[in-house]
Amino acid sequence: MPRPHLQPADPDTNSDTSPRVLVVGAAGKTGLAVSRALAARRVTVRALVRTGARRPDVLRAGAAEVAVADLASGKGLGAAVSGVDAVYHLAPNVHPDEVGIARRVATAAVAAGVTRLVLHSVLHPHDRSMPHHLRKADAEEVVRAVVPSWTVLQPAAYLQNLLPSARQGSLAVPYSPDAPFTFVDLEDVAQVAATVLTRPGHERATYELAGDLTSVRGLAAEASAVLGHPVRAVGTDPAAWAAGPGRELPAQAREDLLAMFAAYDRRGLAGSATVLTHLLGRHPTTWAEVLRREG
Ligand SMILES: NC(=O)c1ccc[n+]([C@@H]2O[C@H](COP(=O)([O-])OP(=O)(O)OC[C@H]3O[C@@H](n4cnc5c(N)ncnc54)[C@H](OP(=O)(O)O)[C@@H]3O)[C@@H](O)[C@H]2O)c1
Repeated sequence: MPRPHLQPADPDTNSDTSPRVLVVGAAGKTGLAVSRALAARRVTVRALVRTGARRPDVLRAGAAEVAVADLASGKGLGAAVSGVDAVYHLAPNVHPDEVGIARRVATAAVAAGVTRLVLHSVLHPHDRSMPHHLRKADAEEVVRAVVPSWTVLQPAAYLQNLLPSARQGSLAVPYSPDAPFTFVDLEDVAQVAATVLTRPGHERATYELAGDLTSVRGLAAEASAVLGHPVRAVGTDPAAWAAGPGRELPAQAREDLLAMFAAYDRRGLAGSATVLTHLLGRHPTTWAEVLRREG
C-alpha cells in the first residue's frame, strides 16, 4: 500500500527519523523555495541538481543531501530516488522533453518503491495556444498513470517574476499591461507544496493555485505606492524581445515564450484564489505584502 502522506518528524526526535523528499530541479527558483519550506517543516530534503556546482545553493536552502542527475538522459535518477519517501517533481522551464522527463522521474520513483509524487504543473495546462502548457497537461497524465499516490499543483505566474523590474521602476512586458492575471506568491506555493507532502488528504488531488485578480498596470500602481518611487507599466513589442533577450534562447524555447506572450496579450492568465485560500487557511499573500517582504 502506498504511504498516504508523510508525517513530519517529532521536534524532539533525531532528524534521521524525518521523512525524506527528493526535490527535482532543486537549484532553480521554485526548487529553492520548496526546499526551504520542506526543511522548515523538518523534512529531510534531498536536492536533485544537474551539476555539483549548485551544491552550495541547495545546502543554503536547507537540503540535507544532494543527488546529481541528468533529467534529459536519466543518468543518476535511480540513485537519486533510492530511499526517499516522496518526490517533488518540477521540470526545467520550457523544456522540450518535459513529458519524457516526467515519465523518467515517475518510472524511476515507482521502480524504487516510491509511490508518492507531487507534480508542479501550471495554471490552465490545457490551454492549446501555449505548447509548453500542453506539455505540462501531458506530463500530468503520465504522472496520474504511473504513480499510485499523486498530487498535481497548478500555480499561476509568480509575483516574484516581476520584482526585479518593479525595483527598477518599469514593469515592461511583451503583452498588454491591462490583461487580467492572478499572479501568486512563490512562498505561498512552496507552503502548499510542503502541506500536501506532510498532511493527509491530498492524494489524487489537482489544485489550481492563484492569487488576486489584477493586471500588470495594477501591480505597477501598487508598487509605486509601496516602494515610494514611480513604477511604470509598459507594453513592449514581442519582436523586440525575440531580437533582444530572447535571441540567446534555444529556438523552441523562444517560440514557446512568444506563443505565451501572444496568449497573455489576448486574455492574460487568470484563475481563482479559492483553493489556495483554503489550503493556506488565510488569504493568499498580496503583491503589496511581497514588496514589503522582499522589495
Ligand atoms: N515562473 C513561473 O511563474 C512559473 C509558474 C508556474 C509554473 N512554473 C513552472 O515551474 C517549473 C520550474 O520553474 P523555475 O523557474 O523554478 O525553473 P528554473 O529556475 O529554470 O530551474 C530549473 C532547474 O532545473 C535544472 N535543470 C535543467 N536541466 C536539467 C537537467 N537536464 N537535469 C537536471 N536538472 C536540470 C536547472 O539546473 P541549473 O541550475 O544547473 O541550470 C535548474 O536548477 C517550470 O516547469 C515552470 O514551467 C513556473
